[in-house]
Amino acid sequence: MAGSGFGTLFRITTFGESHGAALGVIVDGCPAGLEISEEEIQAELDKRKPGQSRFTTMRQEGDKVEILSGIFEGKTTGTPICMMVRNQDHHSADYGNIADSFRPGHADYCFTEKYGFRDYRGGGRSSGRETIGRVAAGAIAKKLLASLGIQITAYVRSIGPVVAEKTDLSMIEENALRMPDADAAKAAESYLDGLRSETDSSGALVECRVTGMIPGLGDPVFDKLDALLAGAMMSIGAVKGVEFGDGFAVAAAKGSENNDAFALDENGKPVKVTNHSGGVLGGISDGSDLFMRIAFKPTPSIAQPQKTVKKNPDGTYEEEEMVIHGRHDPIIAPRAVPVVEAMAALVLADAVLKNLSSKMDGIKTFYGK
Ligand SMILES: Cc1cc2nc3c(=O)[nH]c(=O)nc-3n(C[C@H](O)[C@H](O)[C@H](O)COP(=O)(O)O)c2cc1C
Repeated sequence: MAGSGFGTLFRITTFGESHGAALGVIVDGCPAGLEISEEEIQAELDKRKPGQSRFTTMRQEGDKVEILSGIFEGKTTGTPICMMVRNQDHHSADYGNIADSFRPGHADYCFTEKYGFRDYRGGGRSSGRETIGRVAAGAIAKKLLASLGIQITAYVRSIGPVVAEKTDLSMIEENALRMPDADAAKAAESYLDGLRSETDSSGALVECRVTGMIPGLGDPVFDKLDALLAGAMMSIGAVKGVEFGDGFAVAAAKGSENNDAFALDENGKPVKVTNHSGGVLGGISDGSDLFMRIAFKPTPSIAQPQKTVKKNPDGTYEEEEMVIHGRHDPIIAPRAVPVVEAMAALVLADAVLKNLSSKMDGIKTFYGK
């Protein structure tokens, strides 16, 4: 399937379906000599895996990573890194009754129209499980960035009407909903329990902040950093909106409010006094924190009866009422937090490598001329 590759120099290709034998990724272009252990990759996958709480799908998958190539004695070798996770707990029979029907809000209709038929088991390639490869590759990209002092943190800012008022980053891994505010997490849990009893699901807002940014990342004009990050976030299933800095609020702002004044820091270097831009100007990082907000829609597969259409073997269509049986996330965003971080890391690692060729001075220094 075209469209499964991402990145230019730090390039990934993901593979696999929800109910196939395995899912994974090939990372090509990671520099040699980066120290990375299987445990570090597994730790990221564990944050994404199902069955973590009553707010994630009850599918029980260990999501144990197998590294097939490209890492030797704890270091990347500069050759393609292939990582794979085998599927274990797939109940394909759950999908038998909807094999020819189109789940409202899901990709079934569009896959069928595009390819003529689809792997209906668990959503095939349009499943959230596809993000396993992104998270495994993102763990490597994060390690590369950490060696430069760049750190990425995402969390859930709001769930339905419940907004986290505090931003206590130490709380994120302390609650199942990955909210930076313990009180908001409790309120969101009761909100979700209510929705579950109505067999409904909720949307949510994820925020992502990148600290330790290097100025100069991003390539005008089509590979602007914010353009690549927006594309990366929009490629995650269920994402319907991305904002940078003040985002859509800029439409109501005045220039005098929106501009970030420059000043000199204690070392006499230019810094921005505010960060309405979200860390990018002209598509190039300005050295301040990158800040993005990513809107996730409610999980489309809900267990209440829904009106839809099915395709008959003779190619005709008929209306029907459908009931979805499989196991689904009542909310996507908490499990998508590591996916958001991974996609940000992949864009930034690629931008770091591409930036090496931006100036003659840098090229001469590298070759010792
Ligand atoms: C981590 C993750 C988990 C997901 N879990 C589910 C799920 O359990 N059930 C479901 O219907 N959709 C789930 N989705 C969303 C679908 O993959 C997505 O809505 C679908 O592919 C249609 O794409 P679109 O919403 O981007 O248009 C999940 C997405 C992600 C990123």
